[in-house]
Amino acid sequence: MKKVINLGIVGFGTVGSGVYNLVSRNSRTICAKTGIEIKVKTICDLDTTKVSAAVSGTAVTSRWQDITEDPEIDVVAELIGGISPAREIIRESMKHGKNVVTANKKLLAENGSEMLEMLADTGGSLGFEAAVCGGIPCIMVLNKGLAGNNIISITGILNGTTNYILSKMESRGLSFEQALADAQRLGFAEADPTFDVEGYDAGHKIAILAMLAYGRSIDFKTIPLEGITKISPLDISYAQDMGYTIKLLGIAKNINGKLDIRVHPTMIPKEHPLASVRNEFNSIMMDGDMIGPVVMNGRGAGSSATASAVVSDIVQLAGKPEFHPRFIGAAKLMSPEQRISRYYIRMLTEDSPGILSQISGTLGRHKISIASVIQKEVNAELVPLIIVTHEAKDSSMQKCVTEIEKFDFVKEHVTLIRVEDFKQQEKKQ
Ligand code: HSE
Repeated sequence: MKKVINLGIVGFGTVGSGVYNLVSRNSRTICAKTGIEIKVKTICDLDTTKVSAAVSGTAVTSRWQDITEDPEIDVVAELIGGISPAREIIRESMKHGKNVVTANKKLLAENGSEMLEMLADTGGSLGFEAAVCGGIPCIMVLNKGLAGNNIISITGILNGTTNYILSKMESRGLSFEQALADAQRLGFAEADPTFDVEGYDAGHKIAILAMLAYGRSIDFKTIPLEGITKISPLDISYAQDMGYTIKLLGIAKNINGKLDIRVHPTMIPKEHPLASVRNEFNSIMMDGDMIGPVVMNGRGAGSSATASAVVSDIVQLAGKPEFHPRFIGAAKLMSPEQRISRYYIRMLTEDSPGILSQISGTLGRHKISIASVIQKEVNAELVPLIIVTHEAKDSSMQKCVTEIEKFDFVKEHVTLIRVEDFKQQEKKQ
């Protein structure tokens, strides 16, 4: 039997208008597949003139209470983003017995515990597929599809802007600044790109995924975030020579009960499935103890892709929601002393006797073993010296870098990029 869902949309920006357009275009398909007819009853936006010009057969208001207090509305789509008034809209909607869908990653990543308490207090249901990687249905897969697994790790290209920039640096030899300007011209990067290029957006997404995967609350402020602004075309070119590509990864690993969660540029082998994900596309690899690695690729942003995830949540919530996330305490996070990784180190040094031995001596004193060294013969006084290490402790490597930068023959800040060979997964296969 057909079930009608009256939807209220709060926020008519990229995602809100995308949801309206998707429902207008595909409502027959949705109904044929699911038996659910979605009707957009009311849209709320401060710019009512803009909305009225774009829609028909739908009430338009600038007061969100007209949606949260309307007894005929079943589901509220909170699509304004930010913390306030988004959290009030969600709370009020639930108090009035409505289910809510949202794309608000900041609210979920930074106030995840508060959101869960709100769900418990009000008995409401919250769908947030659109908060992580746009249209890729990764939350559904993590919560339901992989329910029979302990999640060993999640590794993802979670930000389209930075993947676009790194892809263009690699394919066209552009500098970071040139690739960013290109991304802004094409609308893949915001006028103020800080949130994307410094790793915050990917940080929010990996925090949400880790909370769901491990059932623990996570203090977002404790996640180390490093963006891509320091990556140079030289690093991209050396990475290629060594058989790697550089990606901004969000990583969450369970290592003996402690969580290692971080965001940073990472060198990954060219043949790894994530290496071939280019331009604005996202990719997530979830490694379950029973199934092994599962990889999903797709558009992580944009009007239609994100609307696809919002509608997926609406359809799911229209059935009896079977999944209720809950936390069983705060996550135990790894300390910097415990985190280990392989490293690529790039230094600009004088080309004189004894330099390599002083640098290798510094690494040796900190018990860091060298895997390879590259110094190409160039006709210049200063030369790039590249060292790739075996696994080393984060804290030891930071101390080494501080010491190396003090040598007067080292002429620039040292560039440090982590190298991930995914050996753990290979061993299991
Ligand atoms: N700005 C994000 C990205 C999309 O570039 O992937 C929204 O999370």
